[in-house]
Amino acid sequence: MLRTHTCGELRISQTGQNVSLCGWIQRNREMGGLTFIDLRDRYGITQLVFNMELNASLCGDARKLGREFVVCIQGKVAERSNKNPKIPTGDIEILVEKLTILNTSKVPPFTIEDHTDGGEELRMKYRYLDLRRDENKRNMLLRHRMAIEVRNYLNSKNFIEIETPFLIKSTPEGARDYVVPSRMNEGEFYALPQSPQTFKQLLMVAGYDRYFQIVRCFRDEDLRADRQPEFTQIDCEMSFVNQDDILNTFEGLATHLFKTILDVDVADFPQLPYEEALKLYGSDKPDIRFGMTFIELNTLMKGKGFRVVDDAGLVVGIKAEGCGEYSRKQLDALTDFVRKPQVGATGLVYIKYNPDGSIKSSVDKFYSPEDMKQVLDEFQAKPGDLILILAGDPDQIRSSMSDLRLEMGKRLNLMTSGEFKPLWIVDFPLLEWDEESQRYHAKHHPFTSPKEEDIPILESDPVSVRANAYDLVINGVEIGGGSVRIHNKELQQQLFKVLGFSDEEATAQFGFLMNAFEYGAPPHGGIAFGFDRWVTLFGRGESIRDFIAFPKNNAGRDVMIDSPSALSNEKLNELGIETTR
Ligand code: AMO
Repeated sequence: MLRTHTCGELRISQTGQNVSLCGWIQRNREMGGLTFIDLRDRYGITQLVFNMELNASLCGDARKLGREFVVCIQGKVAERSNKNPKIPTGDIEILVEKLTILNTSKVPPFTIEDHTDGGEELRMKYRYLDLRRDENKRNMLLRHRMAIEVRNYLNSKNFIEIETPFLIKSTPEGARDYVVPSRMNEGEFYALPQSPQTFKQLLMVAGYDRYFQIVRCFRDEDLRADRQPEFTQIDCEMSFVNQDDILNTFEGLATHLFKTILDVDVADFPQLPYEEALKLYGSDKPDIRFGMTFIELNTLMKGKGFRVVDDAGLVVGIKAEGCGEYSRKQLDALTDFVRKPQVGATGLVYIKYNPDGSIKSSVDKFYSPEDMKQVLDEFQAKPGDLILILAGDPDQIRSSMSDLRLEMGKRLNLMTSGEFKPLWIVDFPLLEWDEESQRYHAKHHPFTSPKEEDIPILESDPVSVRANAYDLVINGVEIGGGSVRIHNKELQQQLFKVLGFSDEEATAQFGFLMNAFEYGAPPHGGIAFGFDRWVTLFGRGESIRDFIAFPKNNAGRDVMIDSPSALSNEKLNELGIETTR
């Protein structure tokens, strides 16, 4: 080894030891006859000292070292006179006796510090330099520790990790596939897995009754802060279990991760049916760190001559405690917020319950003080509270109100960082109607089982059928989702029919699974967690990109390696793809 220690390791107890360290030059400064260098590696920073009086030529060499040069030094550990309590090695420094330059470096395009001067695009282009920064190192380490703990927990519960192929055919997760042309089978394509869904079910048929995999998945969909075209799932499947067994097992995983990674005890995993979640929070991934649940006001507010409300399918409000003294300007800002195209409401009605007990609303023209008092009572409002109301198309208004609720949560600091509130959303609908294609789509995927008691209405009233499907939501983030699967061929065929697949289509796409189900498929179910999202949540980050070593940008590009990129005509020909250029 070139080094005896890392740059994060030496302490005052090692004073006097001869050591050798390797690393990158973080800073180089001269003070009189002394040169101080901060030497950095993955583990930390150690101060090096060169003394002009003791060794002028060595000190001269040190002065020439530029930022990010790679060096190896030998020297003696000494106690520092000027200690730095901010770093673990801050009590010592190395009196350098020998310096070897292992490599030089160009001046980096941005400073490799916590508060760097590099913008996002530049940092992504030079991601290998960005990854030298502490923040990114912390994120990569957190990711590693979580992966280890996932494996520890699942291994302790008899799950085995099995790899499934990447060159497969279309998986039915609802996004577009990334496709790979086959040279050996001209004109034919593989699809990259959107998830290993079908393979993990086949593993259950094969008798591997507890499977997991920390696995890359590929989905060609529009990108957001919590989505990447390639992302990682903790993918799991179990046999001979019902929904409660699955939820219990993975509450165990979540509890284990909270404890081992964050030292947080999370005991409570409430379950909320999908319908209730929409009614109370307007969202199937509510942040329940705060209340501010919706109250529907159709009965109380309709029929008083206010057109917007009278014509609305849904009138719904929330109570912002202690906001009764909001100024005109603050209320206008909220109105502007709900009118943003991404939020999508046309306007905002407010009722201020003034601290003196008087009531002022934006619709005083239509409602008497008694009418308004009734609404306030419905919210159990107190003087000093503010009621915010939206009216319109139910789906749209629920979504807009959900955004407004989160905005108020932010403004009122109700989403405490460091507090974690998980919940299961259960009883998802099995199907949803898709206007565009004029057919039903599986809300989760077509292998999800309907609730036993809803099977009789599968063909007569498909949208009312509830599924044995669940999502794990933590602090408003959908961390994972899964279901109990159909393991009966007839039921699977019936569902394909409701989904509008002809027998031929079903056979062409999923014949292999249907065939497998004829050879003793056990009852089974599972879940997949978005690993990037989970790490981001634990790391209190904003975007999953910061927790992925080499992420893509919002346009799905890797700006470092400049991908995707064009292929030469020669290569296209080889793949049997006709060239147009
Ligand atoms: P689902 O499609 O819900 O289920 O995906 C599981 C979890 O994966 C994460 N996720 C993503 N993370 C980052 N970028 C993306 N583009 C992305 N898409 C999804 C989410 C999500 O909850 N096969 C089923 C699981 C099962 O039924 O067992 C599946 O993939 O956190």
